[in-house]
Amino acid sequence: MTDASNHAPLHAAAYRRQVEAAAEAIGERTDLRPRLGIILGTGLGALADEIDVATSIPYDELPGFPLSTVESHHGRLLLGHLAGVPVVAMQGRMHLYEGYSPQEVTFPVRVLATFGLETLLISNAAGGMNPQYRRGDLMLLTDHINLQGLNPLVGPNVDAWGPRFPDMSAPYDEELRRLAEEQALAQGIKLQQGVYVAVVGPNLETRAEYRFLRLIGADVVGMSTVPEVIVARHMGLRVLALSVITDECFPDALEEVSIEDVLAAAGEAEPKLTAIMKSVAAQIGEKESVH
Ligand code: HPA
Repeated sequence: MTDASNHAPLHAAAYRRQVEAAAEAIGERTDLRPRLGIILGTGLGALADEIDVATSIPYDELPGFPLSTVESHHGRLLLGHLAGVPVVAMQGRMHLYEGYSPQEVTFPVRVLATFGLETLLISNAAGGMNPQYRRGDLMLLTDHINLQGLNPLVGPNVDAWGPRFPDMSAPYDEELRRLAEEQALAQGIKLQQGVYVAVVGPNLETRAEYRFLRLIGADVVGMSTVPEVIVARHMGLRVLALSVITDECFPDALEEVSIEDVLAAAGEAEPKLTAIMKSVAAQIGEKESVH
């Protein structure tokens, strides 16, 4: 065997140890053992205000945690209760465009799953390519396309975490999707459903790229979520993900978009997202307490 082939498994062992050390470090800071986790997307941190926070841990106080460099992300873990249900929320996530590897981007998901998570709710900001979508709409992810050219599962597989070739036929849990649909309907919130395509970014797409992404079957495009979902599914977590449509990406009528526009749209749609997430959390809590 060559040196190179010897190094990869060693690296995997070190990564696993780091994940376990970070999970332990969280456990030392709180008595809560939430089964529900939430990742708050760009401009979508307000759900954090709804959490009755017991413990807040900045990422830089957790061993091995990458630090989110985007200004609109706070970079801390919140542990507390949402609608009476124990939760852990990531306020701020890492993106590939910040220069992180897929393994770094998904490190927190590995840590939280090791900490005992069973369900993960994810939000993100995305550009709408389906002509029926409007800025400010919410979309439930029914499926995704990984167009990032990278995958967090590349490298030696940690069998204790999940299979070498994980199934991806239904990444977004059907029961959770039904719950979200019911809650949106009950509260009079329009909820689109569609396919999210993940790109690396950080630039927004050209007209030709939007045309291509629409043609291959995507309804929205964004720069996150898919690596986290892949790792969450690898570890057997149930996943629900929602996009806020922050800009309309119609190639023949494309307008310039700034990050300020994206954040403003996310902020405007946030109360709807928060309402759905909160009531889904409450429903999950109810179901769990029945067991
Ligand atoms: N493209 C990619 N990512 C995005 C967009 C977009 O148009 N809007 C928000 N995130």
